[in-house]
Amino acid sequence: MPNDEQVPWTAIILAAGEGTRMKSLQPKVLHKVAGRPLVSWVVGTALEAGAARCLVVVGHGRAEVAGELARTFDARTEVVLQPEQRGTGDAVRCAMESDPTLSGRVVILYGDCPLIPEGLIRSLVDASRRTKASLGLVTATLATPDGYGRIVRDQTGAVTRVVENRDCSDEERKISEVNPGLYDVDAAFLRDAIRQLTPDNAQGQLYLTDVVELAASHGNVVSVAADMADLTGVNDQRDLAICAARRRGRIAEALAKDGVAITDLDTLYVDADCEVEAGASLGAQVHLRGKCVVRQGASIDVGCVLTNVVVEANALVLPYTVATDSTIGEGASVGPFSHLRPQSQLGPRSKVGNFSETKKTTLGEGSKVNHLAYVGDGIIGKGVNIGAGTIFCNYDGERKHTTVIGDDVFIGSGSQLVAPIKVGRGAYIASGTTVTHDVPEDSLAVGRAKQENKKGYAARLRAKLRKKR
Ligand code: UD1
Ligand code: CA
Repeated sequence: MPNDEQVPWTAIILAAGEGTRMKSLQPKVLHKVAGRPLVSWVVGTALEAGAARCLVVVGHGRAEVAGELARTFDARTEVVLQPEQRGTGDAVRCAMESDPTLSGRVVILYGDCPLIPEGLIRSLVDASRRTKASLGLVTATLATPDGYGRIVRDQTGAVTRVVENRDCSDEERKISEVNPGLYDVDAAFLRDAIRQLTPDNAQGQLYLTDVVELAASHGNVVSVAADMADLTGVNDQRDLAICAARRRGRIAEALAKDGVAITDLDTLYVDADCEVEAGASLGAQVHLRGKCVVRQGASIDVGCVLTNVVVEANALVLPYTVATDSTIGEGASVGPFSHLRPQSQLGPRSKVGNFSETKKTTLGEGSKVNHLAYVGDGIIGKGVNIGAGTIFCNYDGERKHTTVIGDDVFIGSGSQLVAPIKVGRGAYIASGTTVTHDVPEDSLAVGRAKQENKKGYAARLRAKLRKKR
């Protein structure tokens, strides 16, 4: 016999609501906290806590929500359609009816509650199983319980029902114990109970919360107390910002505990799917978005915004650099004020400096783009020096073309390379040259008007101009 803990359970996650209070075009559950949609936080936590299967109820923006889930999770996560949003009870009915064989225990969660700790789900599952309750639920106490369903208890302290904010009597409105919306229910009881729900309430909906009263009438409810700070449900943009701030803080603290040097815990913004190794350092106001990787010894200084960037060991990213979908090689240096656009691959110990911009370019080991350059669609070898103000003219108005530069090439300041073009290894480009033909290896390319000095001309000109004044 497996012990109770090993008995597999199913999660039902409600994510069909429109979220009108968000005043946004996006379905509510796709709004992001630390780079992850609300619904993905909940599904991810349910799976971590041990759900064998997740049924996600979708409705508003069904295709987008289903698409997000399919990209993020494996076959354990399935989508169920709730055709009309007739309330949380109706949403659970849709899930139960989608699989008439569903049995055992069911954990129900709301897809708009992104901070749920995995351990709390485990505690709820354990408590429900231990007491063999028809229904287990989490409760929490709030100084301002406004908006949440209230927990009603009898004289013995047993939970008797949950009353929605809108349906509260004046007395009930004062109750500070609320329903964050986590339940562990016996499937057979649930199947029967949801058939008994009626839309006899202020919103004319089928409330899942009415199931609590049905379980209580059999004396069969267990409650688990938790901290509401972890259970904020997102109904509007303010709730979303509160959840994002809390998640941001938790991520920063966890990184610091794991050995990342952090200048300012309060202004570090690292998305949940980024990886930062111990021994890396992150300055104030640094944003790591999407899926960044920062290796040990790398340092990202104040104000940098990196999205899907790999920063290899011991690289330096100097203040106010913006980089997207790129790689910064081992010991390389970028910034201050550099812009790496997508597909910039900087080799080991290479440098991209002040006010330089790169795009879809590989920069070989030790090569430098130190000042004020634009380097787009380039394939650049090792040990290359690209002088200040160099421009890769990669666009002819219709298409983009490639500039190929061999190892050890020296490009003088203020040059333009009109692509498609190749510069052979070891070549020199004189300052101010507009390169329009390929340059052979070890050659010098000069393409500018010959300089002529007119002796005394400046002085004569000045005198003439003064006379006119
Ligand atoms: C719900 C609870 C309330 C609790 C609060 C906690 C009910 C009736 N009320 O209220 O007791 O304090 O959450 O945050 O359950 N959804 C559907 N289909 C629907 C309606 C909603 O899938 O027809 C989904 C929504 O997408 C959302 C979740 O269920 O993710 C909760 O719905 P919401 O309307 O936000 O419920 P609350 O009013 O917050
Ligand atoms: Ca809600």
